[in-house]
Amino acid sequence: MSAQIGVTGLAVMGANLARNLARNGYTVALHNRSVAKTDALLAAHGDEGDFIRTETMAELVESLEKPRRVLIMVKAGGPVDSVIDALVPLMEPGDIIIDGGNSNFQDTRRREADLARKDLHFVGVGVSGGEEGALLGPSIMPGGSKESYDALGPLLEKISAKVDGQPCCAWIGTDGAGHFVKMVHNGIEYADMQVIGEAYDLLRSAAGIEPAAQSEIFAKWNEGQLASFLIEITAEVLGHVDAKTGKPLVDVIVDSAGQKGTGRWTVQSGLDLGSPISAIAESVFARGLSSQRGQRAIAQDVLAGHELPVELGADFVEDVRQALYASKLISYAQGIDMLQSAAVEYNWDLKLDEIASLWRGGCIIRAELLKDITKAYAADEKPANLLFAPAFAAEIAQVLPAWRRVVSAAVQLGIPVPVFSSSLAYYDGLRRKRLPAALTQGLRDLFGAHTYNRVDVGGTFHTQWSGDKSEVSAVDTH
Ligand code: 6PG
Repeated sequence: MSAQIGVTGLAVMGANLARNLARNGYTVALHNRSVAKTDALLAAHGDEGDFIRTETMAELVESLEKPRRVLIMVKAGGPVDSVIDALVPLMEPGDIIIDGGNSNFQDTRRREADLARKDLHFVGVGVSGGEEGALLGPSIMPGGSKESYDALGPLLEKISAKVDGQPCCAWIGTDGAGHFVKMVHNGIEYADMQVIGEAYDLLRSAAGIEPAAQSEIFAKWNEGQLASFLIEITAEVLGHVDAKTGKPLVDVIVDSAGQKGTGRWTVQSGLDLGSPISAIAESVFARGLSSQRGQRAIAQDVLAGHELPVELGADFVEDVRQALYASKLISYAQGIDMLQSAAVEYNWDLKLDEIASLWRGGCIIRAELLKDITKAYAADEKPANLLFAPAFAAEIAQVLPAWRRVVSAAVQLGIPVPVFSSSLAYYDGLRRKRLPAALTQGLRDLFGAHTYNRVDVGGTFHTQWSGDKSEVSAVDTH
C-alpha cells in the first residue's frame, strides 16, 4: 500500500488535516519528529481511514506514490526550512512539498524559487478555520505552480469546506500568492474582531447593556446582514458565565489581546504596497495598546477624560449594528484593495471573485456578505473598489447616518472606536473632492524642494521659497 499524501508535523492542525484527508478516502502517511505523537494519533483515530505509520523522513517519502506529496505542518519560520532541508535530498523532480502553516509569503516566494531550481514544486497553502475547520473542512488557499495544483488540487478541494456544493478551495496564483491571501484574510479577521469589540464596548459602556443581554443582541444580528461566524461566536462568548465566579466570562478575561503575527505582517506588507489598509492597521494597533498594561495603569491616574454628555437616541442599538456593518465592509474593501495592489506588484492573476467565494465557508471570516462580494467581482464590470459596487454603495448610503452618529457619540463619551472612526475617515477620504494632500505637497516643496504637480497644466513644479518665490519647472531645480 502506498499513500497519496504524507503529513509531517502532527500537532493539532497537522493531525486534523491528516484525519480529514483519511476520512475522505485518501491513504495518509504520518510522520512526526517524536514518534509518540504519531502513535497517539493512530491510537485515538487510526480507525478513521487508511494511515501509514512512519518513523523517519526517509520512510515517509518511501511510502508515497508519485508525484510525492508531503504536507508540512510545523511552526512557521526556521522549522519549515529545516523540514524542507531534510526532505529535499529524498525527493525526485516533480515531487511536491506543501507548507500548510501560516508562513510569511515572502518566505514562501523564496522557498518556491529555491525548490523550482531543484525541479521540485513548493506550494504554500493558506488554511483557515482553526482546529475544527482543519478536521471538518477548512477554507484552503494554495499558491505555487499551476502544474502542482493539477496534482494537488483535487485532494485539497475534497477536504475543503463546501458552500452551495462548491469547494472553498481554488488555485490562488503562483509562488506566495496563497499565503499572501491567507495573510490578508487574517488582517481582515483582526479588523472584524476589533469592530465587534468596539460595538460591544459601546453597547456596554454607552448603553449599559450587560454581556448576557448582548449575547442575545448578537445572536439576532447573526440572522441578518451581519450573519457571520465571528458574530455567531461573539454571542456564544458573551453568553458564557464563568463557573468559578458566576460572572460573565468576558469580565474575568484579562483585557490585553495577543497576536501571533499575521495581522502585523498584513500591515507591514500594506505599507510596502502603499495600500491604505487603515482599518486593519488600527486593529493591530488596538491589540498593541491593549497589551501596554503598565502604561494603561498609569493613565488611570494621570490622564483626564472630560467626557461630554450625549443623547443616545432610542435606536442606539440599531445604530451600532449599522456602524458595525459599515466598518466591517470597509475592512473587506481595504483587504481586497490590497490584494489588487499585490497582484500588480507580484505579478499574480488574482481572481477576486474566486477568493471571495472560497472565504464563504470554512474560514474565520466567513460571512453572508461574501456572497455579494463574490457577485460584485464576478460581474463583467469589476468595481475599482468594493464600495463602488452598486449594491454596496447603496448599503453604505443607508447606514451612513447611523455610522456618523455612533462615531460622534463614541468620541463625546471617550470610548475608543479606532476602527469605526478610521473606517469612516477612509470612506470620507475616498469620496472627498479635494484633500489636504495639496497642502502636504506645498510643505514638502518648501522644506525639501520635493516638487508638486498643478491642477491646471501638466509637468512638475517647484516654488523658489527662499528666493523670489517664483515658480520654476521642476527640471530646472535638479
Ligand atoms: C484561521 C486563523 C488562524 C489563527 C491565527 C491568528 O484562519 O484559522 O486566522 O490562522 O487564528 O493564528 O492568530 P492571532 O490572532 O494570534 O494572530
